[in-house]
Amino acid sequence: MAKSWVNSAERIGADLHLELSGSGGRRAALIDALREAVRGGRLAPGTRLPPYRSLAADLGVARNTVADAYAELVAEGWLTARQGSGTLVAERARPLRAQPARHTERGPVTAPPRARAPRHDLRQGTPDASAFPRAAWLASYRRAVQQTPNEVFGPGDPAGRIELREALTEYLARVRGVRTTPDRIVICSGFAHGLRLLFGQGGGGVLRAPLAVEAYGLGFHRALLDTAGVRTVPLPIDEHGACVEELARERAVLLTPAHPFPTGGPLQAERRAAVIDWARARGGVVLEDDYDGEFRYDRKPVGALQGLDPERVILLGSVSKSLSPALRLGWMVLPERYVEGVLAAKGEREAWASVLDQLCLADFVSSGSYDRHVRRMRQRYRSRRDRLVAALAAQAPHIEVTGVAAGLHAVLRLPPGTERSALKAAAWQGVALDGLAAFRHPETDMPVRDGLVVGYATPSEHAYGAALEALCGVLPPGESTEAPTDG
Ligand SMILES: Cc1ncc(COP(=O)(O)O)c(C=O)c1O
Repeated sequence: MAKSWVNSAERIGADLHLELSGSGGRRAALIDALREAVRGGRLAPGTRLPPYRSLAADLGVARNTVADAYAELVAEGWLTARQGSGTLVAERARPLRAQPARHTERGPVTAPPRARAPRHDLRQGTPDASAFPRAAWLASYRRAVQQTPNEVFGPGDPAGRIELREALTEYLARVRGVRTTPDRIVICSGFAHGLRLLFGQGGGGVLRAPLAVEAYGLGFHRALLDTAGVRTVPLPIDEHGACVEELARERAVLLTPAHPFPTGGPLQAERRAAVIDWARARGGVVLEDDYDGEFRYDRKPVGALQGLDPERVILLGSVSKSLSPALRLGWMVLPERYVEGVLAAKGEREAWASVLDQLCLADFVSSGSYDRHVRRMRQRYRSRRDRLVAALAAQAPHIEVTGVAAGLHAVLRLPPGTERSALKAAAWQGVALDGLAAFRHPETDMPVRDGLVVGYATPSEHAYGAALEALCGVLPPGESTEAPTDG
């Protein structure tokens, strides 16, 4: 098969001749030809590609063939697709050139090659970046900058802008059942910063170690606590959340009650009450990581634990899942007795969260844009999760999606002993994702679980179908899956 592309090349302003050749089918041939044109520099970064219909007509192929080829190349990072702008050659898709040699005392060295972006990115931790509400955010930023008094351009209050603390007081009460007042909220740059403020470096914060944590969680947070000299003690988890009845001598416990991370079985009502009783009886405190509380798909989200006892729970939240982790904006809702200590830990002036960004978020929340965005993303992620469940039911019915329908990721339970080989197969196929082992506390004695953590929010909308397809292709084959091993 051989086919020339002439007309579309004129339309995009590039002198390009495409040969669709090879025996792998038209879709594969088109992908190869476009990839080659970008790689060789004949299609320069920023060049707009023709619409599906016209390229399909020029080449005499089906419109879907072109759409699939574009989607594949977007997933691989050669092209980018933006609503309203069509499909463009990605800015970073520079043609290969010889690496310039650097020189050291020992002679010339060549810079190591940069890691390639995965073809299919299903790593948890990132919202769909293509859905960032650029226009609404800019509108809020414009209003914030235009309407703000001059004093805002001076040093900031370490508690954070009052406009944002007021907006959050109203929003968190309405959406998460949080009971607080603006003077008990401290703005920070996200959950990780909140942890640093609470524990300080080398034990200098407002809370004391050891800290009980869920047996599965983010290694990054454990490492951060470790650096601060805070010993973490793992609590076993099961499908009802953390086994809080096992809390012993600790004075603080860190939980993800709405959607235990990453495993997903929400903290059962009895355990919610029990952990508050524990905190009251022992003079302890519960740190509530409310990282994705707004994203629950099966019914209304359970309220924050903080609402049960605002004097015994510190709630930490951020916009990292709802908007973007790049913003570095979060909040701490504190019992009164910790406010002064946290403010002292922050320092005399705001040194973490840009005051203008805070005012922008205040406007974004109080104008209703935040609600609208969360509602839109909730629908999108719900549909992504549904598609994941449906794809598994059709192609890998022996693999169970565990946890509640919520958040931006799901855990697939794998047959015992298959996690490593599934991760290897995924790496071979260019599918980036993590296994459950990466989240396991090194000191827990819970039975090992094999599973994959799938960040279904991470790909952009048009890349998701291909990512799902690739995921199903790397799952271990079904035969005898053992009974669930929760608990
Ligand atoms: C378990 C968990 N907690 C908290 C966060 C938020 O962290 P940060 O606000 O520091 O970006 C994340 C990631 O978004 C997370 O996965």
